[in-house]
Amino acid sequence: MITPEIIKTTDGSDTLYVKDMDEHYHSVHGALTESEHVFIRNGWKALGIKSSVSIFEVGFGTGLNCLLTALRASEEGRDVTYITIEKYPLEPKVFSILDYGRFFGERGQEVYQKIQLATWNEMTLLFQGFRLLKIEADLLLWDGWSGIQADLIYFDAFGPDKQPEMWSPDIFTKIGGITGPGGIMVTYSAKGEVRRRMASAGFLMERLPGPPGKREMLRGIRK
Ligand SMILES: C[S@@+](CC[C@H](N)C(=O)[O-])C[C@H]1O[C@@H](n2cnc3c(N)ncnc32)[C@H](O)[C@@H]1O
Repeated sequence: MITPEIIKTTDGSDTLYVKDMDEHYHSVHGALTESEHVFIRNGWKALGIKSSVSIFEVGFGTGLNCLLTALRASEEGRDVTYITIEKYPLEPKVFSILDYGRFFGERGQEVYQKIQLATWNEMTLLFQGFRLLKIEADLLLWDGWSGIQADLIYFDAFGPDKQPEMWSPDIFTKIGGITGPGGIMVTYSAKGEVRRRMASAGFLMERLPGPPGKREMLRGIRK
C-alpha cells in the first residue's frame, strides 16, 4: 500500500507523502517541529520526574518520535522501554535520505542508525537504559495488548479522516487498558470525535495549542 515520496517541510526537515492516501507522515509545516511539540513537549515533558518510563507508540514510521525520545532520555539519564508498532516498515534507503539524526550531531546520527537497524520483533538495548521493541504488525489484528503496560502513549496513526479504523472506540479501549492511572496519551489530532472516544476509554482530556499549522492537539491523562 505504501510508496512514499520525500517532501521538504518548512523547518528544513523532510517527511513522507503517501500519494494513494493523500496523506503525510508529519506536518508539512515542520516534521521535526511537530514531533517535538506534540510528543516531547506535551507528552514526554509531562511525565514529571519518573525515572523509569514505558512508552507505547502507534505508528513507528520514520522513527522520528523514537529518536527525539531516545536523545531526551539519554540527556536526562532516564530508563526507557519503548514499544512501537508498524504495519509497513520503510525501506532502509528512506531512512538514509531522511537522515533525521543530522539535526543532532554525531550522537543523533549514531542513535538514529541504531533505531533503524534494530531487528523487528526483538527487544534491543539501543544504549544503556534504553530498550526498543519495534513490532511489525497490523494494530487492528495484533493480540499482544495483554503484555504491555505504558506510562506514555504516542498516538501517531495516519489522520482519522484517512484511516478511521485506527481511531475506533475499540482501539482506544485497548489503549486505555494498557495505560496505568496517571498515564498520558498524546496525539496531533484535535477532532471532537477523537476526544470523546479517548474520554470514553478512561482519559481525562485536554486541548492544547497545536504545532505550527494546527490550532489544537489532544492530551489525555488516564483516570
Ligand atoms: C503518521 S505516520 C507515523 C509517523 C511516525 N510516528 C514517525 O515519527 O515517522 C502513521 C504510521 O502508521 C503506520 N500504520 C498504518 N496502518 C497501520 C496499522 N494498521 N498498524 C500499524 N501501523 C500502521 C503507517 O505505516 C505509518 O508509519
